Amino acid sequence: MTEDLLATSKNGAATDVVLEVSDLTVGFPSDDGLVQAVRGVSYGLRRSEVLGIVGESGSGKSVTSLAVMGLLPGNAKVSGSVRFRGKELLGAPEAELNKVRGRNVAMIFQDPMTSLNPVYSVGFQVAEAVRAHHAVSKAAALDRAAELLELVRIPNPRQRLDNYPHEMSGGMRQRVVIAIAMANNPEVIIADEPTTALDVTVQAQIMESLQLAQQETGAAMVLITHDLGVIAGQADRVMVMYAGKLVEVGTAEDVFYTPRMPYTFGLLGSLPRLDRPSERLTPIQGAPPSVVNMPPGCPFTPRCPLSVAVCEEVEPALAPTTGPEHLAACHRSDALIGATPGDVFETDVVDTEALAHFVTETEGQA
Ligand SMILES: Nc1ncnc2c1ncn2[C@@H]1O[C@H](COP(=O)(O)OP(=O)(O)O)[C@@H](O)[C@H]1O
Ligand SMILES: [Mg+2]
Repeated sequence: MTEDLLATSKNGAATDVVLEVSDLTVGFPSDDGLVQAVRGVSYGLRRSEVLGIVGESGSGKSVTSLAVMGLLPGNAKVSGSVRFRGKELLGAPEAELNKVRGRNVAMIFQDPMTSLNPVYSVGFQVAEAVRAHHAVSKAAALDRAAELLELVRIPNPRQRLDNYPHEMSGGMRQRVVIAIAMANNPEVIIADEPTTALDVTVQAQIMESLQLAQQETGAAMVLITHDLGVIAGQADRVMVMYAGKLVEVGTAEDVFYTPRMPYTFGLLGSLPRLDRPSERLTPIQGAPPSVVNMPPGCPFTPRCPLSVAVCEEVEPALAPTTGPEHLAACHRSDALIGATPGDVFETDVVDTEALAHFVTETEGQA
């Protein structure tokens, strides 16, 4: 990718943003009305940064990323803009998207078996990924495949090339998927719940492989998870999603230490404590709302201990809080200054001190 293709901002200055999502909205028609899966999501992914997207199941994380990759089902109603280095991807012809997918933007899904073909050896599949965008011989592609398997820490990579996916463990398979994602030195890697389908004991290893992949390729990475703990120590910035919207955006520090949206507090309160790892609380009561025929107001209101009258009437917009880059969509942001999850959600199990401890420990492992 040459420098002249660098994204330029509206005033013409070169920016560091490789992927720019603006006012992305995705709906699915249903018998009950439009399912408003994504409602006006905007973000810029900067070169080489790790951006975490967190939120409970159904908050719109996957649909956002599928829209970026042009992989939504045909019935989806999409509007807004997705630019890769300034080039519009929304509505781009399939042939254009195929050039970008895999080469510039790679995606890693939750279940490695959805990405791997059971009837081909993993060596063949990694080599094909290399050959899809580069004219190299089969032998050279296999050499590169072995190199990639070694990079993601697969032992005896040469021998492993001949394995079929079913001959590998789930963790090994996900490493093969990561190797495929790295094959063409992408500029963006989107990993959607990459460890969720795997045994807890291999989750940390997969996160480590992802980090290696990110460092090796210099790619920017979008790391999607329902579990804030997974991205602690890895994400540079964090976006919290709820009911199809971004409700908090900031540096990892902003979001972990001085959250300004009660929902984020709730997610933090669900983190396990290192000193009492068996305790895993879910202090946010209730479930996320349906995103069909949504009532006015903030969608978190029914679950929010801090809600007041205005919360039921007006949906708050993302607005700056502790700094211009730390945004929250909450009428009660100020009520969170100096608060701990325990203050808000009536649990004394998690306090800021324990949280700080947790984040530091996780960083230590990285
Ligand atoms: N193909 C689809 N058709 C209809 N609704 C969908 C489809 N895909 C996702 N949804 C709905 O969109 C919302 C967001 O889903 P999703 O992005 O998968 O959530 P997350 O990844 O955060 O768990 C959910 O309400 C989900 O049921
Ligand atoms: Mg998902």
